[in-house]
Amino acid sequence: MIKHTAVVAGALIMFAAEAFAQMEHGSAPPGPPAKAIAVLSPTKGSPVKGIVIFEVVKGGTKVTAHISGLTPGKHGFHVHEYGDCSSDDGMAAGGHFNPGQMPHSMPMREKRHVGDMGNLDADKDGNAHLEYVDSMIALSGASSILGRGVIVHEKEDDLKTQPTGNAGGRLACGVVGLAK
Ligand code: CU
Ligand code: ZN
Repeated sequence: MIKHTAVVAGALIMFAAEAFAQMEHGSAPPGPPAKAIAVLSPTKGSPVKGIVIFEVVKGGTKVTAHISGLTPGKHGFHVHEYGDCSSDDGMAAGGHFNPGQMPHSMPMREKRHVGDMGNLDADKDGNAHLEYVDSMIALSGASSILGRGVIVHEKEDDLKTQPTGNAGGRLACGVVGLAK
């Protein structure tokens, strides 16, 4: 009887340990990340802020951006090399994320920086909504943007000036992190 109780108790401990391990690991499915988010905060003197969501879909990564506080019109929008928004001018985020050593260009081109998301186009109230599927941006592998920085610029990206698109100052900065 004592032996039997010990076996039952042992089984219970193992069951509890397994349940605890499951709790610790959460409900995230195995495999590469499927969704990420960047919450953009204003740089010094800027009212610009917003949210950018990245979701792995067929054909690439769907980018959905909601940004406010802009002047009406176009504003360069990129993933930069570093997820470092510690400097108040956004410069710590470095240059455009460019793992393939390509020239600066636009999202629909094959030869481009991975981080080239083109322009946001703000309405008269200063709100911009961008939604498109990017064929190069990824959440795993060499082109993964996890941990990188997202920057919104003062001026329009002319999509040709090297290596910046001549988009001017940095108005908002956010770090790409995993999302549920
Ligand atoms: Cu930029
Ligand atoms: Zn670029």
